[in-house]
Amino acid sequence: VSLRAFNTFGIDAKAKKFAEVNSLDQLLDIVSKHKNLFVLSGGSNILLTQDIDNPVIHLNTKGIELVDKKEDKVWVKCQAGENWHEFVLWCLSHDFGGLENLSLIPGNVGTSPMQNIGAYGVEIKDCFDSLEALEISSGKIKTFRSEDCAFGYRESVFKNRLKGEFIIVSVTFQLSAKNHTINDGYGAIKDQLKLQGVNDPTIQDISEAVIAIRRSKLPDPKEIGNSGSFFKNPVIPKSHFLKLQTQFPEIPHYIVSKEEIKIPAGWLVEKCGYKGMRFGDAGVHKNQALVLVNYKNATGEQLLSLAKNIQQSVKKKFEINLEMEVNIL
Ligand code: EPU
Repeated sequence: VSLRAFNTFGIDAKAKKFAEVNSLDQLLDIVSKHKNLFVLSGGSNILLTQDIDNPVIHLNTKGIELVDKKEDKVWVKCQAGENWHEFVLWCLSHDFGGLENLSLIPGNVGTSPMQNIGAYGVEIKDCFDSLEALEISSGKIKTFRSEDCAFGYRESVFKNRLKGEFIIVSVTFQLSAKNHTINDGYGAIKDQLKLQGVNDPTIQDISEAVIAIRRSKLPDPKEIGNSGSFFKNPVIPKSHFLKLQTQFPEIPHYIVSKEEIKIPAGWLVEKCGYKGMRFGDAGVHKNQALVLVNYKNATGEQLLSLAKNIQQSVKKKFEINLEMEVNIL
């Protein structure tokens, strides 16, 4: 089976065995028979560089449920197979606030906690209540609260210590039902709201602004294969930053702490000359140098080798190690 339709990079890797899973019972049954499963959900954060021998499952479980309501807050439980952006739109249509800054992120709800998806000043950990995950070894469902997930910048326990051990089956979010907090601090959002002529933004306005910004710089995976940011924004010691700043006075940066500075990786990649470059069908997006793209028939190896060349160039020019955000298989 070709996995092209099941990864947003559109890589034509093959799976020997493939099953779509539409219910929890079906998942429990498969897990009781196979321990070496490979779970491919939205496929929005993975680069497939080889065919897969282990049985591949595509989680397609659906359902959104209001589980609790107290004062200004609501708790909403969503099954893993729901599309992330459609879930965000569902929340907005019910006027539930918290996830609007995360509009239009590709992928499914079940994988959103894996790398603690984030954008425009918000990460899912900010609205996260808990999740349920199936332990593959025991076949038991376990509940994880926020503190069990060890969320960090594009990190969680599921990418690290518990990698490959659990399948996330549902996620519960704590959202606001009124008196929403508006996160419009990010410069690009402020500019976009001005353009929309909005002074006192609602959560729906924020979502529209985020959608407009993303559409303007990020390629739509339906048109050009990609996986969003390919690298993480590196955090470097202040002393290193000051040295770079004398050489590149315009270097963009965010202060993380007294001793640490975060540099946008997109700028580093652009400065190395890669923005808009194309090598066969593998390339670097013309509007956002942090996004690697598959124009059509690039292989995972070709994209990986481009990524490695970029890492080397950035290392040589800036003495900075770029870490990949995307999972490599
Ligand atoms: N920049 C360049 N050239 C480029 C791209 C960026 O110089 O080609 C510089 C500019 O100075 C720009 C700055 O980088 O102002 C920041 O760029 P942008 O606002 O596009 O954000 P980012 O830091 O590149 C991060 C996340 C995105 C998220 C945006 C908005 C990471 C790795 N990426 O990108 O997340 O949408 O901020 O919050 O943290 C993703 O994870 O897949 C993703 C798209």
